[in-house]
Amino acid sequence: MRNGRFITFEGGEGAGKSTQIRRLATRLRTHAREVVATREPGGTPLAERLRSIILAGGARDFGDFGEALLFSAARIDHIDRIIRPALARGAFVLCDRFADSTRAYQGARGGAEENMLAILEAVTLGGVRPDLTFILDLAPEIGLERARARRGQGGADRFEGEDLAFHALLRDKFLGIARAEPERCRVVDAAKPEDEVAEAIWSACLEQWPLLATEGRQWA
Ligand code: TYD
Repeated sequence: MRNGRFITFEGGEGAGKSTQIRRLATRLRTHAREVVATREPGGTPLAERLRSIILAGGARDFGDFGEALLFSAARIDHIDRIIRPALARGAFVLCDRFADSTRAYQGARGGAEENMLAILEAVTLGGVRPDLTFILDLAPEIGLERARARRGQGGADRFEGEDLAFHALLRDKFLGIARAEPERCRVVDAAKPEDEVAEAIWSACLEQWPLLATEGRQWA
């Protein structure tokens, strides 16, 4: 039985996903019985361990498809332990990155064939698909600069360290996903001020679930 709502946030580096997830979670909590905010790769102890290995570059030599397999293994654990049970309880689940990140990041260079990634995605998700996906769109030059400022002295992780051409390809990939699935995806201009981005996201949620507009109503 699945009656919750699943919202994912996607985009390149430094697009402000985590800030926007925090803001939407706070707002939704006044309307919904339960809101679960989580992230990928991660969300469970096993998936967080895989996250450390992948982001430290420990799986780079596997190539794009090998990395996609590891992200997918982490995703299966996350879906089984966190996402599917939360949706079954009727929660709103907000996830920082999900399967579109594998399509975009591991698919950007064409090293992993698109149809293989699609098969892997179908097997991994087992029917758990987002109801709504926000693609926070930003020029990679700005996003990478924001990410650099955020991490201060620390070194770039596995994907931040890729060149600008890779990040430009990524942006195209995400926009391509949005064009291919307009029912599910909303592209949000992440260069706008934080408040405006939050309003655009909230409006899209209200459009998708008009019942949310009823002040004080507890989402069933
Ligand atoms: P994170 O620090 O969460 O980055 P961000 O703040 O930009 O979301 O690190 C996640 C990194 O892993 C990010 O560079 C995107 C990458 N990634 C993939 O390449 N494939 C995937 O399937 C997922 C979920 C993430």
